[in-house]
Amino acid sequence: MSKTATLEFNGKKYEFPVTEGTEQEIGIDIKKLRGEAGLITLDPGYKNTGSCESAITFLDGEKGVLRYRGYAIEDLAEKADFLEVAYLLIFGELPIKEQLEKFTKDIKEQSHVDEEMKKILDGFPKSAHPMGVLSSLTSALIAFNPSSVDVSSEEEMYKAIVKILGKFPVLAAWTLRKKNSLPLNYGDEDLGYVENLHKMMFEKPNKSYSVDKAVIDALDKLLILHADHEQNCSTSTVRMVGSSHAGLFASISAGISALWGPLHGGANQAVIEMLERIKEDGGDTHKFMQKAKDKEDPFRLMGFGHRVYKNFDPRAKIIKKSADEVLGQLGVEDPVLDIAKGLEKEALEDDYFVKRKLYPNVDFYSGIIYRALGIPVEMFTVMFALGRLPGWIAQWREMRLRKEPIGRPRQIYIGENLRDFKPLGSR
Ligand code: CMC
Repeated sequence: MSKTATLEFNGKKYEFPVTEGTEQEIGIDIKKLRGEAGLITLDPGYKNTGSCESAITFLDGEKGVLRYRGYAIEDLAEKADFLEVAYLLIFGELPIKEQLEKFTKDIKEQSHVDEEMKKILDGFPKSAHPMGVLSSLTSALIAFNPSSVDVSSEEEMYKAIVKILGKFPVLAAWTLRKKNSLPLNYGDEDLGYVENLHKMMFEKPNKSYSVDKAVIDALDKLLILHADHEQNCSTSTVRMVGSSHAGLFASISAGISALWGPLHGGANQAVIEMLERIKEDGGDTHKFMQKAKDKEDPFRLMGFGHRVYKNFDPRAKIIKKSADEVLGQLGVEDPVLDIAKGLEKEALEDDYFVKRKLYPNVDFYSGIIYRALGIPVEMFTVMFALGRLPGWIAQWREMRLRKEPIGRPRQIYIGENLRDFKPLGSR
């Protein structure tokens, strides 16, 4: 392979180095493009732009491959638990027993938030979307943990990391408890990370808490499947905000806002709402397939398509199987599961979807499991955020350790040229 790429412009040739990753992905290193040729690249939506080199997650959209630190997602979802995966993503290796015990203990020690935070939560109306509340509360955490912002050593970073891993589930659970008019509680040191989260979310003040193991296992798997996905919209946001050295919590808060949108993490809520709408309309999947294909109609088949996966989303395969298992184990019958399967079958045989390589993505079946687990629809994207937290942290840490420069894209200006100012009376 040639080690350089040549660009010809205005009769002059420019050479740029070519970078190759460990999975043979190649990229042209254009750092010197503007300096040498006076040009920039234009790539709205960054469809062809690599914003960084990263050693965290590898995905091959054509082959449907997803790996965290070299481990196949299928293996991790089957054999690891969420905190092991979090450690792997953040620090690069699966933990040995002592490392996992220390990590777990350090997180547990941080699993409380300042009581004053309750007043902030109190100020939100009950109707507020949990993602907005969670983003605000995560940002508010900075005021109570100012030392988390200015981190330059690995040790200071570690402290900020275990703090957010400990406190975030409390905040997520509180957003749900506020909605459900339940008292704001704390977790139980003796429980695992995921069971503790579940307890904080669902424990009733008048009942002793118990949960089916199948529920915790399903939740653990869903969190693992969502834990990282390289340079997607929210992760890029986290790296971008973090690149200004605004601190981990501010970066995560911005990531939550980015994830909220229906084209990103908000799709899991949008999928269930769409399936419900189809059910209420009489269950005619064909009618909605036609709407999705009609360019005059803004309707899109939510949970279908992906910027990177153009074959299948490996997470969707695991989740579809898991949805069948969980609903079976819990004895839940959900008619929207049949509608989802019907839509998938039709789309996989439809020319429009086949040609555009639109396959079910991670969000197509996850909402059905969340619903079976008793999680309200508006909390679905919060569950995604809980899963994505280690990925955001890992990406932020990598960006800081690599001393990446502040993110600052360029633009091609297409506005007015210089013109004379007219005073108000003569416009
Ligand atoms: N339903 C109908 N048509 C679609 C859909 C869809 N869900 N997705 C893409 N298309 C069409 C689109 O209209 C376009 O057609 P044409 O070439 O004729 O103009 C073509 O497919 C390419 O679409 P695009 O919007 O240019 O693709 P993109 O890479 O910019 O967008 C996407 C990717 C995920 C935003 C998009 O597929 C979509 O809106 N899907 C629905 C929302 C969704 O499920 N999002 C969750 C993504 S996975 C979870 C996560 O990581 O965030």
